[in-house]
Amino acid sequence: MSQINDMERILISEEQIAEAVSRIAAEVDEYYKNSERRLVLLGILKGSVVFMGDLMKKITLPVEIDFMKVSSYGSGTKTTGKVNIILDLLRKDLENCDILVVEDIIDSGKTLSYLTEYLKLKGAGSVRTATLLDKPDRREVNFTPDHVGFSIPDAFVVGYGLDYAEAYRALPYVGILKPEIYSK
Ligand code: IMP
Ligand code: MG
Repeated sequence: MSQINDMERILISEEQIAEAVSRIAAEVDEYYKNSERRLVLLGILKGSVVFMGDLMKKITLPVEIDFMKVSSYGSGTKTTGKVNIILDLLRKDLENCDILVVEDIIDSGKTLSYLTEYLKLKGAGSVRTATLLDKPDRREVNFTPDHVGFSIPDAFVVGYGLDYAEAYRALPYVGILKPEIYSK
């Protein structure tokens, strides 16, 4: 059965996402245009991959990509609050890099506040953050991303990289999942 039947409603359409990606790419181009460091888009696996792929094509400055994998969530919809690094960033020239962390969504803020501090401690030349989605009402730590696609209400969303139990990541839109899907 089509995954669209599991959606309460589509929250952000493919067209709206494309507009936001272009806008963020333009912001990134403007911000880093005079930097002499290497611009590294650091995608947080796995949720950021769709956003990352679209964003890197729209940025006109030369970019490199890298990935980290962290876990703060179990398989369901609740955070455990603890951030574990599962795949670390191994490059040795961090002081010569402008790191732009690319995330799918910010919820409690714990993942990105931890990671930005971690990357600064490792000696990155600069660290900024871009997220497609932000749920500011859910924040548990003080954290403000530098580039945001959409601020959204407190609902569990999937699609465009975001999953529920590994499903729905390939949907081209962001939808609100029917609560009965994750409460059964
Ligand atoms: P934070 O550390 O609480 O900000 O967690 C952010 C991470 O939680 C994201 O990278 C997602 O993996 C996951 N997450 C938070 N909200 C949602 C959601 O609505 N749908 C899918 N994943 C989510
Ligand atoms: Mg994630």
